[in-house]
Amino acid sequence: MRNKPALKTNKKKLYYKLINNELVYDNKSIVRYKKNNKNNAPKNKLNQLEELRKRINSIKNCDLKKNATNLVFSDGNPFAKIMIVGEGPGANEDKEGKPFVGRAGKLLDKMLAAIKLNRKNVYISNVVNFRPPMNRRPTDEEIKKYLPFLNKHIELINPKILLLLGATALNALIGNEVVISKARGKWTNKKFGESTIQIIASFHPAFLMRQPDQKKYAWEDLKMIRKKISELKIKLDGK
Ligand code: URA
Repeated sequence: MRNKPALKTNKKKLYYKLINNELVYDNKSIVRYKKNNKNNAPKNKLNQLEELRKRINSIKNCDLKKNATNLVFSDGNPFAKIMIVGEGPGANEDKEGKPFVGRAGKLLDKMLAAIKLNRKNVYISNVVNFRPPMNRRPTDEEIKKYLPFLNKHIELINPKILLLLGATALNALIGNEVVISKARGKWTNKKFGESTIQIIASFHPAFLMRQPDQKKYAWEDLKMIRKKISELKIKLDGK
């Protein structure tokens, strides 16, 4: 009989485990208990992103991966409310394992700075996460292979604004029937997971380097983003 209290404690522990020990009790009469997941949310997000990164890294039978040096997953702030999607890594990105670090990246940084943004208040990824050889455009088959990862990536980041840079990102996420020159600078929306996200497309910085006369249109698109940030009262620190 002496070990009865200990037995009771063990039973209690088992009971808490069974009912999920993340539950905390609340004094309010209506809510008897609630899930204390508020502080876990940031950690969960980072864990899930890491999980996704690992899943992409273990992709099988993919020529992109076979020919690449590094996985290029993302850059920027995972808690940002603005997400940017490009096409795919180039040589510099492949070397560093980070998106938009080459010449196109430098122009992207300037474009962001023009509307008072930087990599601390945006999150950046690409349609494909391994460099296509010779910087060619990813094939439809490759895009199809990486699209579930990209959709999941967007769902996990859950931005308020999604900026698609160039035709590849636009066609992958909105459809092949749209063309960048017509679809840019227009808000549309799409559901990712539980959230409906505002989407805008603009020209890719690499295209703007080849066609600088088109920069005036990109500037219009950037101003639309700045306006939307104010309208949606987006906090740029990601909180
Ligand atoms: N172009 C892209 O689309 N993505 C990069 O990461 C770099 C260049």
